[in-house]
Amino acid sequence: MLGGIQAVTKIGVTSIPPIYTPYIDIHFLNIINIHKAKTIMEAISISLSLLLAIATTIILKQLISSLLHARLPLPPGTMGWPYIGETLQLYSQNPNIFFSSKVKRYGSIFKTQVLGCKCVMMASPDAAKAVLLTNAHLFKPTFPSSKERMIGKGAIFFHQGHYHANLRKLLLRAFSPDSIKQIVSHIDSIALSSLKSWEPRPLITTFHEMKTYAFNVALLSIFGKDEVSYGDDLKRCFYTLERGYNSLPINVPGTLFHAAMRARKKLAAILAEIISLRRDRKREDSNLLASFMSDAEGLSDEQIADNVIGVIFAARDTTASVLTWILKFLAQNPTVLHAVTEEQEAIMRSGEGKGLSWEDTRKMTVTTRVIQETMRVASILSFTFREAIQDVEFQGYRIPKGWKVLPLFRNIHHSPENFTDPDKFDPSRFEVAPKPNTFFPFGSGVHSCPGNELAKLEMLVLVHHLATKYRWCMMGPQDGIQYGPFALPQNGLPIKIFLKE
Ligand code: HEM
Repeated sequence: MLGGIQAVTKIGVTSIPPIYTPYIDIHFLNIINIHKAKTIMEAISISLSLLLAIATTIILKQLISSLLHARLPLPPGTMGWPYIGETLQLYSQNPNIFFSSKVKRYGSIFKTQVLGCKCVMMASPDAAKAVLLTNAHLFKPTFPSSKERMIGKGAIFFHQGHYHANLRKLLLRAFSPDSIKQIVSHIDSIALSSLKSWEPRPLITTFHEMKTYAFNVALLSIFGKDEVSYGDDLKRCFYTLERGYNSLPINVPGTLFHAAMRARKKLAAILAEIISLRRDRKREDSNLLASFMSDAEGLSDEQIADNVIGVIFAARDTTASVLTWILKFLAQNPTVLHAVTEEQEAIMRSGEGKGLSWEDTRKMTVTTRVIQETMRVASILSFTFREAIQDVEFQGYRIPKGWKVLPLFRNIHHSPENFTDPDKFDPSRFEVAPKPNTFFPFGSGVHSCPGNELAKLEMLVLVHHLATKYRWCMMGPQDGIQYGPFALPQNGLPIKIFLKE
């Protein structure tokens, strides 16, 4: 019965009463008359009145349903001051305190206003599933326009529909287990040389080093193992781009944003050069660039560059943050570290000095559970953003068109209803699969992470070498968390690392 309603779409439990459509009944009889009509003029006039009646019915339905939904309440909550809303409350403290106190007061769906945006936040598994998966067509991804300018408007994050689906197919092909198993030995070399470079230093900042590791693995998966010549230039440009990423978008000389936009141009030039060299070289490669360039629908060089830059952004800090948390949790939980070390030493012994293989990584069940539990406890992405593309009815509430909708991953991961003793780091809980829709480390639905297999692989490889060859201890405060934007141990976790005797 919702077929004719376009202005408002309903998800959830309440229903709209059926709307009687007398015009359709009357004109059904008229259809019979058309056959009896003697002149063409009569038939035309009958058809026109039939069309008019249908249009009137549709408009009437929309009007009635809009009126019904306009009466539905907005979710509970407070909007704070005009325009700035509750931005200060959210950002002046650990954002999770803000979310938890709201959930306690208003329940798992509440409204607020942040950075000039009206938002509905959702902390229940069903709500997250509805927004990301079952009703994803009603909620589009949304980003500030400055981010779009910086990464490039052709990047996958900013799209829906056919263009998005095609890009996703190409990404999934390049990051499928079948493709990435071919680069295990190269990831292995990158992990070993990263760790070697930490050895002589008295103190390292874990996050900083993990960023370099994740960046190098991202370049490997995008360009293949041969593209070393441009690595340093790409790294330099990325560093400048990143420094301007969260700055005020003022594009005048002297600002971080201006420098970032110049670095963005340089990145595009480097990528155009790589692409043109690849065009001359006909080879069957399974990396991401090859996947983009072989696309039957023909991505432009600009679209390819936007997506290469986008993937590096998506791949680097996320993986580096999770790895940083893994080191912290292992250092704080000696029994878990012991179990991981035993597992990894057994794998090392069985390999007899040959490098790690894909099959080895499939045997790392204890370490895999450590990664899962780290992603649950740390929840580096506390939430994601969507925007309602039309008025939506949700579990008896109205979400107006244009409002932001935020599934709160961290609250779902830390709810005692979903995980017993949720603040405890206990990898053994993943011996049993979590309840459906309670664990979203890589999101869900059409925009879920296409790089998740690669991320898990590179984390397993690094932990293998770390646990079998090194010891480490944390230096400085151990309880602080910083958000920038991913949750991270205070100061990026400074550590000392030692070779095992
Ligand atoms: C531990 C590391 C990672 C985590 C926790 C992570 C998490 C996520 C999440 C939660 C999303 C969905 C965001 C949303 O729905 O709004 C996402 C999307 C995405 N991720 Fe990852 N990611 C990681 C690593 C990677 C890697 C290594 C790559 C690429 C090699 C990658 C590429 C992407 C891309 C391209 C998207 C956008 C997909 C789309 O819009 O269809 N990510 N990631």
